Amino acid sequence: MEERYTDPRPQEEEQDVELTLRPQKLEEFIGQKELREKLQVYIQAANQRQEPIDHTLFYGPPGLGKTTLAFIMAHEMGVNIKISSGPVLTKPGDLAAILTNLEAHDILFIDEIHRLNRSVEEILYSAMEDFELDIIIGKGPGARNIRIPLQPFTLVGATTRAGLLTSPLRDRFGVIERLEFYDIGEITTIIRRSARILQVAIDEKPAVEIAKRSRYTPRVANRLLKRVRDFAEVRNDGIIDKAILEESFRMLHIDHYGLEKMDREILTALIDRFDGGPVGLDTLAVMLGEERETIEDLYEPFLLRSNFLQRTPRGRCATSRAYEALNKEKKKDLFSDEG
Ligand SMILES: Nc1ncnc2c1ncn2[C@@H]1O[C@H](COP(=O)(O)OP(=O)(O)OP(=O)(O)O)[C@@H](O)[C@H]1O
Ligand SMILES: [Mg+2]
Repeated sequence: MEERYTDPRPQEEEQDVELTLRPQKLEEFIGQKELREKLQVYIQAANQRQEPIDHTLFYGPPGLGKTTLAFIMAHEMGVNIKISSGPVLTKPGDLAAILTNLEAHDILFIDEIHRLNRSVEEILYSAMEDFELDIIIGKGPGARNIRIPLQPFTLVGATTRAGLLTSPLRDRFGVIERLEFYDIGEITTIIRRSARILQVAIDEKPAVEIAKRSRYTPRVANRLLKRVRDFAEVRNDGIIDKAILEESFRMLHIDHYGLEKMDREILTALIDRFDGGPVGLDTLAVMLGEERETIEDLYEPFLLRSNFLQRTPRGRCATSRAYEALNKEKKKDLFSDEG
């Protein structure tokens, strides 16, 4: 696959750096103010009652901090965290083994929880509700039901697609929270914090320029910072100035508006082939040879939020800002007042 610097999904070789940049305490976590306040209350209340925190579901686009928050919860509660994910837990036995090994108040984090298969998911119901493992041993007439008590624990689930969760599972979470995109100020703060940890000198202004191209996503911000640092170290004695920023963004194919290649292809298709829309997402996906979900999950959120794209009941439309960014003339339309 082609390299995408602004892909909000994690890339394999990034895992080590993500660990060092990941905030460990709630007070180091930037942005998501309301969510942070709520979590702080839930954590303190659970600590005071000497109970585990309620089962918690985080949902929202990739790279906004769901995994980070799960780790922070464990850190603030002073408990262990076990990590797994929907696609990895293929058999009920896999999950049962993890659950029976949890200590009191531990956190079990299941990433991509919408991808659990049904038989595994069903084990979770009684585990979450009664802290009991309800399993069937054997087959046919000799099969019997056994119940194994579990330690009280907290399940933290994360998903980019809350809509795909079954309702019995969703209903068992006491806390369901959506992570929002960050604003430019918050992303700038995250970049400056990461720069301190990576020991890169960066002023406010270049940090803002990187922030503007980060798709409101901390993971993208950290990645761009590291790429810019590479260019600065090799070509500019490590100094991040305007020229080195411009050079880096040009090499990374990210324009002044924060648009990258695929964004421009989407908007160009909309404008050149459909007169700016409206056009259905499926048609657009076919035209571009991309999966519908990829466009919807990875590109659209940024294009919508930055006002390049509009979602209407009849399909997607390019905005005036999209025409401006791509340097295109809008065709005269007698019935439009935008002219
Ligand atoms: N609020 C924040 N403050 C500082 N850094 C953050 C914040 N949120 C996320 N990050 C940084 O962004 C990186 C990605 O965050 P994280 O892995 O928690 O995202 P995620 O929501 O779990 O993504 P995915 O859906 O792909 O699993 C982390 O390594 C961390 O360094
Ligand atoms: Mg994650």
